[in-house]
Amino acid sequence: MSKVLFEITEDNLETGMRGYPVGYCPTSFVDAEKGLFYCDRTIAECASWNPKKVIHLLYHGKEGGDEEVGRFYQELTDRAVCHPEVIAHIEKLPREGHPMKLFAAALLILGMYEKTGDYREDCLRVIAKLPHLVAACINHHAGWGKTPAPDLSMGYMTAFTHMVNLPGQKGNGLEEAFRLFNILHYDHGGGNLSTFVGKAVASGLEDLFGSLSAAMCALAGPRHGSANQVTLEFVQQALDEVGEKATEADVEKLIRSRLANKQLLFGFGHAVLRVEDPRATVQYDFVTKNYPDHPLVKIALLLRAAGPKVLLENPKITNPYPNVDAISGSLLTAAGFGYPEYFTLLFGLSRSLGIAIQTVYERMEARAGKGTPIVRPKYLYRPRLSQ
Ligand code: MLT
Repeated sequence: MSKVLFEITEDNLETGMRGYPVGYCPTSFVDAEKGLFYCDRTIAECASWNPKKVIHLLYHGKEGGDEEVGRFYQELTDRAVCHPEVIAHIEKLPREGHPMKLFAAALLILGMYEKTGDYREDCLRVIAKLPHLVAACINHHAGWGKTPAPDLSMGYMTAFTHMVNLPGQKGNGLEEAFRLFNILHYDHGGGNLSTFVGKAVASGLEDLFGSLSAAMCALAGPRHGSANQVTLEFVQQALDEVGEKATEADVEKLIRSRLANKQLLFGFGHAVLRVEDPRATVQYDFVTKNYPDHPLVKIALLLRAAGPKVLLENPKITNPYPNVDAISGSLLTAAGFGYPEYFTLLFGLSRSLGIAIQTVYERMEARAGKGTPIVRPKYLYRPRLSQ
């Protein structure tokens, strides 16, 4: 007899499958109180590592020694360049619309030129080529010119920073900000929307590139990946309203007035977490150390202090604490990347990696190597209520 994990009642229907166990995730898990773990490591620990060491941990499920990580990283370095036709096609895509549309299209095009059909090899290819692919999407969409060839031997995010043709001088802290942002967003358990969608599409035996493209469309919405862009706009509005010299009391007043006017507060709460998101905590520490005087950072820190205090007064709010998006946009802006339109693309650059690795597990390792069957939940028939 197998163990009952979850009783489904009518109250669970039409709730976004919130909390239903549907499978296993070998890369990461989210504890409501302790936050995110990559395998058995806390996200705070991984945040100080080099991306290649974290990628090795997620890909192989164990921490590698220097030599092992070096060998693995060489495999990525050898695969880093996208087929020239892929870049040429990206450079012909329309520049209208959100850059996430370009990214979803770019992943499909990448698959047309680079797919082998072996999920494991395709996963390595995707991880290796993501910095080149995303840099090309940003440079083309922003009109920043041709993308230089990738050289991953510089370091995964160093190479990415080098390929993005930001106008003007790149600030000293940008590479470190990109590294941190990248590591914090690789994976978030198996059930976040984009990961679930990517794996569901792959369950029909679509290739990895198409599955990731679908996953990126799922990530693009403001309830998921573009929450970082929307939250930065909210922090900017708050700054415009209360000014740079605001106190915690001023920000508290602003929050109360927004709530009284039924306006949303962005950057608070999470489907699983019941504490401040440790990915936010790491970023708060980073900005406090590096950019304490940046006006957006100052407001974001005041929102961190005042928000939970006010939200806790409402007993219906299960998590009044800041999430990863509360500070990531302010961090990127303070580090010299003040282009909110591209924040979700940076999230996608990172999250595609976790989704790709989880997809390899579901297709090639789950159920003693048979792989999971096609996703096919049940819906109950109920006629529409008359309008
Ligand atoms: C994520 O990182 O995917 C978000 O926190 C959303 C989630 O976990 O549901």
